[in-house]
Amino acid sequence: MIFANPECRTPARGLTRLRGWFARTASVGALALILAPAAPGQAAPRGTDDFSTTIRPFLAQHCIKCHGEKKQAGKLALHQLDGSLASEKARETWARVAEKLWLGEMPPEDEQRPSPHASGRVVNWLAAEFARAGHKLTPPPAMELPGGGNRVSHEALFAAKVTPGTPPPATAARLWRISPQIYDELLRDGVGKNVKSVTQPFSMLTGEGFKDYAGAFVVDEPTTGLLMRNADSIVAAQTRFTVEDGQFKRAGFPREFNPLLDTNAPPTEAQMRTAIVQQFKLVLRREPTADELARFTAFMRKNIADAGQVAGARATLTAVLLLPEAIFRSELGAGEPDTHGRRLLAPRELAYALSFALTDAPPKGELQSALDKGQFVASRESAKREVRRMLADPKLGKPRVLRFFREFFGYHHATEVFKDDKENKEHDARVLVEDTDQLVLHILDADKDVLRELLTTTKSFVSHKNAAEQKKKRAEALAKFETDKAKNPEKFKNKTFNPQGREVFRAYGLDDFPDVQPVQLPATQRAGILTQPSWLVAFSMNFDNHPITRGKWIRERLLGGTVPDLPITVDAQLPNAPEQTLRQRLEVTKQEYCWQCHQRMNPLGLPFESFDHFGRFRSTERVQDKPATEANVDKQGKSRGPVFKEVALDTRGSVAATGDPRLEGDVSDPLALVRQLAGSERVRQVFVRHAFRYWLGRNETLADAPVLQAADRAYVENGGSFRALVISLLSSDAFLYRVNAGTVTASNPASKKVQP
Ligand code: HEC
Ligand code: HEC
Repeated sequence: MIFANPECRTPARGLTRLRGWFARTASVGALALILAPAAPGQAAPRGTDDFSTTIRPFLAQHCIKCHGEKKQAGKLALHQLDGSLASEKARETWARVAEKLWLGEMPPEDEQRPSPHASGRVVNWLAAEFARAGHKLTPPPAMELPGGGNRVSHEALFAAKVTPGTPPPATAARLWRISPQIYDELLRDGVGKNVKSVTQPFSMLTGEGFKDYAGAFVVDEPTTGLLMRNADSIVAAQTRFTVEDGQFKRAGFPREFNPLLDTNAPPTEAQMRTAIVQQFKLVLRREPTADELARFTAFMRKNIADAGQVAGARATLTAVLLLPEAIFRSELGAGEPDTHGRRLLAPRELAYALSFALTDAPPKGELQSALDKGQFVASRESAKREVRRMLADPKLGKPRVLRFFREFFGYHHATEVFKDDKENKEHDARVLVEDTDQLVLHILDADKDVLRELLTTTKSFVSHKNAAEQKKKRAEALAKFETDKAKNPEKFKNKTFNPQGREVFRAYGLDDFPDVQPVQLPATQRAGILTQPSWLVAFSMNFDNHPITRGKWIRERLLGGTVPDLPITVDAQLPNAPEQTLRQRLEVTKQEYCWQCHQRMNPLGLPFESFDHFGRFRSTERVQDKPATEANVDKQGKSRGPVFKEVALDTRGSVAATGDPRLEGDVSDPLALVRQLAGSERVRQVFVRHAFRYWLGRNETLADAPVLQAADRAYVENGGSFRALVISLLSSDAFLYRVNAGTVTASNPASKKVQP
């Protein structure tokens, strides 16, 4: 591990905090989702909609009843609005209206709801009007982080007809702070050799869901401080040397720095240039431009004059590590705007974006050399070609692909759930997670019907890393036990075989480590990731199952629905009633107030009662036998401990309120549930939406409808090919085009202090 002390901070959540740094340095809502096509101050094309023919009738039909002359719910009146956004008061009111429509929160749920198209149309009209008035309408903060993605209407996104007024797909120009993994890789792969005391300066989003959103992070002052300290440590390690008897000695890397450090002779201009070029190559993986080289050489000369040879050289090498390019992925878009004001990414931006989409490192090999020679052209075709090539290259590691599946399914959280060894000494969460990783990779390798396979396969890897070795050890130990027992039956009378090591296969219901991987599990017990012990453990409590979070996961990740957060005022406790099944204890959530949320989760999670909280299949559930426990007393009437009994399992559940009646209905058990989900078009499209979020680093908007539909089509037409899905996303307009690039200034306070 490179980092002595990986720092983990909670993400900034509020919009203001998210925006903080950028808002001050870049005059663009670089983090905002775009719905408004035009930059502030820029004339927006007038849409076909106007206030009197579209907007006023919409308000009259859906809102005025409660926000009109007679009644002003929430102290809000909308009947006097005339469509003008000239006054600040009007804009404030309209922004509140847009927020409610965006989130689908008005009119209230029990009222007749307008169609998503109708609401989307009003929002689009407002976005354009705000832009015309020189302002920007931004979506509510709740929509900017991964959890907000499902707020966008699924029906509108996948409808054949695009919502009127929706601009063509593009992503806001942005500087995307590099991920901890990219920083890690930068250190591992060159500059960081022998570096001690470097602290990971970056954090990721915590909790469930995608971790690396382009808009989720700022480089605040503490981070800047850490980056500067790290840069100092890195350069200190890069320039380590000793002097013995006046002799300059240095075993370090890179050699090009030697002349800077040997004070017996000051470095020549050429030697300074060579050292600077080398540092650019190590840090930014490119050579400096002629201009950069001239500036950095002059800077080094000056630093040496001011601070002495070694200190001056070090300060200059440090400055390279603090260039914005070393900290941000630049996605501003270069070139002339098209008729919609969109700009294509520059060749270097695109090559880096593609490389960072699949790996944690900048372009390598062919792509790098094409870039360096100026032969890489940014286009949809080149994006497709490069993604195809990288995906097909077996030598190129693509950690971002597996990471998507981990973050989507969340099974890797199994290692974070404490389990009592006394209850099951065979449990080993790390192995369970590795097994599911392996299963995902196996399915990706075949690249056929990927989502359906993930959800329904009866195959599994079981302790795959060292099953053969463990099997052998176990067999030997067992043989020895049998021989010893035969020799001395009296001594072994009451002993049972007690193998060393954890019998992880028991979690899967097997009797031994399997000979072949993947192994076929009973089709009556398992189907896909949601029945893998890793997933079941990840969504369990310490001593029991957790049907609520399992159901929540399905509601959000497969059905594309939302569940409001657990209010802090609720005392979320189940009754302490050990004689009841978990299902019975969950009955408390059927009170009307609780049920409005819990009906969206519990019926989806309860079928997984087929498994215990270690992920072991079971056909009965153990509860306390109350009368037997009460009777279990010694002569003095003191309890001798609880007595348990097995009761029949109830694994029924239901799928409801999904927006797609075709996939709704009651299910008898988890297998019926996952098969029903796996066959659904809706579920497939929700999966595509999540892939979009992960690879675009932001949530989808109505404007992205064509991109999502094309990705879904690519997946289906290629037989459920995940590769086709990724290629489609990484060559989409949303990936290739940026808007509002003109107003971004790429300056960075982290580098100001030391930049030449
Ligand atoms: C059946 C009555 C009803 C209808 C119809 C209705 N609302 Fe509301 N609205 C309410 C109530 C009650 C509140 C206050 C409580 C709340 O915020 O939930 C409210 C609050 C609001 C607020 C928040 C005010 C604030 O505090 O910022 C906005 C904005 C809003 N409504 C917009 C709309 C829009 C736009 C429509 C039409 C698309 C609409 N409402 C339709 C009942 C209604
Ligand atoms: C506004 C929605 C909402 C309401 C109302 C609500 N809950 Fe929940 N509840 C949730 C969500 C969401 C979770 C899952 C939290 C998580 O992800 O761990 C949850 C989790 C729980 C849990 C599990 C807590 C744990 O240990 O993880 C219990 C128990 C629970 N709720 C009981 C109740 C009861 C009882 C009521 C009514 C008095 C209630 N809830 C009302 C949304 C709600």
